[in-house]
Amino acid sequence: MSKQHSIPQHVAIIMDGNGRWAKQRGKERYEGHIAGVESVRCVVRAAVECGVKWLTLYAFSTENWGRPQAEVDAIMELFCKSVVGEAPELIKQGVRIQIIGERNRFSERVLQMIDRIESTTAGGDKLTLVLAFNYSSRREIVLAAEAVARRVAAGELSPEQITESTIAEHLMTRDIPDPDLVVRTSGECRLSNFLLWQASYAEFYFPEVLWPDFDEQEFKRALEVYASRERRYGLIAESTETK
Ligand code: IPE
Ligand code: IPE
Ligand code: MG
Repeated sequence: MSKQHSIPQHVAIIMDGNGRWAKQRGKERYEGHIAGVESVRCVVRAAVECGVKWLTLYAFSTENWGRPQAEVDAIMELFCKSVVGEAPELIKQGVRIQIIGERNRFSERVLQMIDRIESTTAGGDKLTLVLAFNYSSRREIVLAAEAVARRVAAGELSPEQITESTIAEHLMTRDIPDPDLVVRTSGECRLSNFLLWQASYAEFYFPEVLWPDFDEQEFKRALEVYASRERRYGLIAESTETK
């Protein structure tokens, strides 16, 4: 595998384990979410340093609205505080923020914060940090199917013209390359409705560490694991081929 391909272009992380981290310390779950913000800082820094161009973080799933209201409120508040507080450092590091997810359930304040952070960081060219916030991959696919169906009904497209690219172009990730590496912390081995279409040929890595304990070193370990993998895309191994 060439050196160029040993660094993933796009790393996507399911930041899991904040609640357990807090519980282990006799704290409230929201304190785990607060501690998790420091891990976000570490990972963003490490991604910029390592030359990763896209980093997607799963911050809040559509299913997460079903948690106790106090926890949901704390997460929304933390999001607003973090986007204001972190913006100067993100701009300094050349980080552009993009939010994916449905926006119709957010409060006016959260919507304002989303607009603000996306516009103030728009010039960043080192790393695009994609935050999946009120994101559901199945819902994203349903919305794409709806949009494509509308185009067919309008006579702009025939059913035979629908390709994989047509679907991809109607997803919320239309401008984002597919993830090369998907990491989920806390030892859980599932996708929980994250990037189902986009991760079809991603490499997966499930470290045991809880999200608030995930740091630069853990991120670099994930990149090492990735570099040791051989991606075959249904073809035969390079080593077999050259024999
Ligand atoms: C991930 O940590 C953060 C969100 C889902 C918002 P959790 O809150 O799921 O933590 P655990 O899985 O309960 O430990
Ligand atoms: C997935 O974690 C969502 C985020 C990390 C934002 P969850 O903790 O909500 O997922 P499940 O319930 O364990 O599948
Ligand atoms: Mg969890």
